[in-house]
Amino acid sequence: TWTTEAFVEESIREIRAKVGDKRVLLALSGGVDSSTLAFLLHKAIGDQLTCMFIDQGFMRKDEPETLVEIFRDQFHIPVVHVKARDRFLAIIDGITDPEEKRKRIGHEFIRVFEEESKRLGPFDYLAQGTLYPDVIESADTNVDPQTGERVAVKIKSHHNVGGLPKDLRFKLVEPLRKLFKDEVRKLGRSIGLPEEIVQRHPFPGPGLAIRILGEVTDERLDILREADFIVRQEIKERGIYHDFWQAFAVLLPIRSVGVMGDQRTYAYPIVLRLVSSEDGMTADWSRVSYDLLEAISNRIVNEVRGVNRVVYDVTSKPPGTIEWE
Ligand code: XMP
Repeated sequence: TWTTEAFVEESIREIRAKVGDKRVLLALSGGVDSSTLAFLLHKAIGDQLTCMFIDQGFMRKDEPETLVEIFRDQFHIPVVHVKARDRFLAIIDGITDPEEKRKRIGHEFIRVFEEESKRLGPFDYLAQGTLYPDVIESADTNVDPQTGERVAVKIKSHHNVGGLPKDLRFKLVEPLRKLFKDEVRKLGRSIGLPEEIVQRHPFPGPGLAIRILGEVTDERLDILREADFIVRQEIKERGIYHDFWQAFAVLLPIRSVGVMGDQRTYAYPIVLRLVSSEDGMTADWSRVSYDLLEAISNRIVNEVRGVNRVVYDVTSKPPGTIEWE
């Protein structure tokens, strides 16, 4: 039977044997996989590990700071916090096509990753939070024909990006490759990861940028970040966060008329997207109470400047996707 203690011990042995005295780079995303991986590697090789967190400016409210703080202060794992918001905003300035937006963000991510890894490196290994299902799909790796070793060609959190430049094809360390998601959660918990990371809903690599339809601006990001925060706060306070696969807000780049006090408003609508799912491949819109919808709607319209309407998405997947872009 699988115990976390035995797994941790065995992984540490394996990591040390593989890595020796070489340096390892880990791109921390804030999710449970890369966070658990950081813990495991830090336990195994200490300061031979460099954790890099690329902050695109598309994370949720307080998330980057919380992540870096938890690692630095609570667990004494230093994290290089790369603040790259301006260049990410610039690279998608005026871009409205979803695929183009994703592509540009993905490519910029690779560019930043490349620059920073050269600045901080050299590194021999890249650690990735590849799980068993990813190994089966084998989408983000190649096998080196000479050594038989798996080599990184993509960054896991960015599905549809070309890939890493040739001179950056690190050898891989993938200690989670035999695990399923629920085992990673168990493991994360056992080594002391806070529940907010262990149980975090899935969050796409391009972040809030693909939850603002069309053009992404500073103003729209601020609005969406606040609305998203309210959604999460309301469901967490009701103790129903785990009833959902994902629960989030989407900003539509149109305006409609409303009234506030005796003032006419002309502002953005927010879409609520609350879904249940087993694996993200199919999903059902969640049958939530009117009370919840009312509470979220009232708070968003009253507290978030620039929003005057909240609508609920009642589309399942298929035919809808979970994200709107
Ligand atoms: P869709 O929108 O295709 O999403 O129904 C299915 C699941 O995948 C997540 N998703 C992503 N995750 N990088 C990620 O790591 C991405 O670029 C990305 N795009 C979508 C989505 O949140 C949902 O859980």
